[in-house]
Amino acid sequence: MPDRETVLAALDALRDPKTGQGLVAAGLVQGLVVAEDRAGFVMEVAAGDTALYAPVRDAAEAALKALPGMAKVSVVLTAETTPATKPARTASLSPQAVDQTRPKAPVATDRPAHVRRVLAVASGKGGVGKSTVAVNLAAAFAARGLSTGILDADVYGPSIPTMLGVSGKPEYHDGMMEPHVAHGLKAMSVGLLTQASDAMIWRGPMASQALTQMLTQTRWGTEDAPLDILVVDLPPGTGDVQLTLIQKTPLDGAVIVTTPQEVALADARRAHTLFEKVGVPTLGLIENMSGDVFGRGGGEAEAGRLGIHCLGDLPLDAALRQGGDAGVPVVVGDPDGEIAARFAGFAEALAKKLGL
Ligand SMILES: Nc1ncnc2c1ncn2[C@@H]1O[C@H](COP(=O)(O)OP(=O)(O)O)[C@@H](O)[C@H]1O
Ligand SMILES: [Mg+2]
Repeated sequence: MPDRETVLAALDALRDPKTGQGLVAAGLVQGLVVAEDRAGFVMEVAAGDTALYAPVRDAAEAALKALPGMAKVSVVLTAETTPATKPARTASLSPQAVDQTRPKAPVATDRPAHVRRVLAVASGKGGVGKSTVAVNLAAAFAARGLSTGILDADVYGPSIPTMLGVSGKPEYHDGMMEPHVAHGLKAMSVGLLTQASDAMIWRGPMASQALTQMLTQTRWGTEDAPLDILVVDLPPGTGDVQLTLIQKTPLDGAVIVTTPQEVALADARRAHTLFEKVGVPTLGLIENMSGDVFGRGGGEAEAGRLGIHCLGDLPLDAALRQGGDAGVPVVVGDPDGEIAARFAGFAEALAKKLGL
């Protein structure tokens, strides 16, 4: 049976590509769990560094799996919510956006035309599965017969194009952008509008300008065929960028995605507080990557403390990851499976709360 020392030694034998130190020495091993034949930990890296560290995550998983007696291993790569290079706070950033202490009413005015409901999917930190949930939830709404769109506003790591298998700049007709259509979903992403690069630094006003444009200048629906629901994949975090975005966006509700780790839960709490500040109801919490390595139920307990509804949990499931990589969400690729059934349940509860 592998012990903690053996696990730590195996991890420290791997190098952090940035500092050249061992992973443990470099502080990349957090929340390590070693129990009988299982081990798992969280590797938190700077936003924009996830691509660099994905092979390190894979190597760490392989190294732990190679230990005698190790049956189940999980390494979760998460991104800090601040970019690696912090943007300088500029004069153009409104004082309102900086002062987060005062409660304020939403200043949103620009409702997108012919869109009945706008639902945000948010998380306190990156890498918890926010985009995976957003895209599968959208597919579950569509499976209920709702006309559904997905807007990828994650300026730090737009991933919806990959998850839906779409690419290319959107076409313009009559001054409006035409969304891509994939698996029955209308999709628009900040990743399709910009030369996405890790070095890109977004300030609150820039990000919210991009979001406003994608919301109001995309032909989501028409008078004859309105969009029933638009799912918005927000950037992770609870800072200025997120506050500016949710103040400017006419949101009918929010779903918070979290993982069972206490670190992620504390972030979920902050995300809920942010929505409360601007008067957007948190309609539910989804505990992702729940299971025997990291435990489960933390999300449900936390939801109870916050007085919000726990929609349920999602297991760590290889198909969810593969579906995202392949551009076919699991809900579409395996519509009769267990994961699709979970999402159908989430979509049913949310549609009811949204009056759809
Ligand atoms: N329940 C899950 N089981 C397995 N892999 C998951 C699960 N949820 C997310 N992932 C994987 O974890 C990584 C991060 O998920 P993603 O949805 O991109 O997170 P976020 O949008 O919060 O940054 C992706 O590789 C994704 O495929
Ligand atoms: Mg994402």
